[in-house]
Amino acid sequence: MTDEELMQMAMEARESAHAPYSSFKVGAALETLEGEIFRAANVENASYGLSCCAERNAMFAAVSAGKRGFRRMAVVSSDSGISLRPCGACLQVLWEFAPDMDLLLQGPGGRIERRKVRDLLPEGFTFDYAGENTT
Ligand code: THU
Repeated sequence: MTDEELMQMAMEARESAHAPYSSFKVGAALETLEGEIFRAANVENASYGLSCCAERNAMFAAVSAGKRGFRRMAVVSSDSGISLRPCGACLQVLWEFAPDMDLLLQGPGGRIERRKVRDLLPEGFTFDYAGENTT
């Protein structure tokens, strides 16, 4: 599957967004190492803090289905002329399972901007850091 096709799948997923509060619809398409695609959109809530981003919804769906290895994730919103970047919370969740995964991110003019999760979050939290300080 080409990068463009994965971006198109993220576009289709975006149609399912529930974003009545921000009106900012996001779609994600996550490709496993086996070539399976998990799509998701952002889902907001009237209690705003309960809202969840498209990227986390896609990763949680895949992990819940037993998947562990991931190759690419495409993320799109509307073409606002600004480069789309996942939020810090999503980067931490993606980092847990796939720090070297390629992110295909919507850039100005529909360009695809490729970054690794690690490029955007070089040093995520791992439980190793807690080490012997846990009680
Ligand atoms: N959102 C995402 O789904 N992904 C991102 O990368 C950034 C933000 C959602 C969360 C919320 O529903 C809306 O966009 C506005 O923040």
